[in-house]
Amino acid sequence: LIASMEQVEETYVMVKPDGVQRGLVGEVISRFEKKGFKLTALKLFQCPKELAEEHYKDLKSKSFFPKLINYITSGPVVCMAWEGVGAVASARKLIGATNPLQAEPGTIRGDLAVQMGRNVVHGSDSPENGKREIGWTYKMTQDTSIVEVPCRLRT
Ligand code: TYD
Repeated sequence: LIASMEQVEETYVMVKPDGVQRGLVGEVISRFEKKGFKLTALKLFQCPKELAEEHYKDLKSKSFFPKLINYITSGPVVCMAWEGVGAVASARKLIGATNPLQAEPGTIRGDLAVQMGRNVVHGSDSPENGKREIGWTYKMTQDTSIVEVPCRLRT
């Protein structure tokens, strides 16, 4: 367990449309920067419905699924890849519980949100999903400008 915690990994973090509209992009980035993770990709992106449905396919049977898809496609999102030791689990901790009313103060959702359906930010729940979600962003945006050239030079 300790060995896996010490793994350098990459996670996908996405500021959802409410976070972008409320001007919280800088706040979210700042928390990940201050924690000590490295930003390796970033893109402002309007998520197509098909990708939103793929992203949340495990929740397809849930009653809130249509609302979730509407919400996530309602405006641009900011897609990011963050790299560091234990980045996947740590990002989930920084983000806080799914329901912002249950999220601890000090977490992004605990400090900045009140509604489950407007919870500001997404973070991958496993290293595999981190890779997968980062991969979609690269593929869907078809834009080589988000490839992690400048950041990589610092390692
Ligand atoms: P989930 O993957 O369970 O949570 P998390 O984002 O913390 O990984 O759910 C995805 C999103 O679906 C969640 O961020 C908000 C929305 N959602 C609801 O709107 N209602 C719900 O009851 C749940 C469980 C999730």
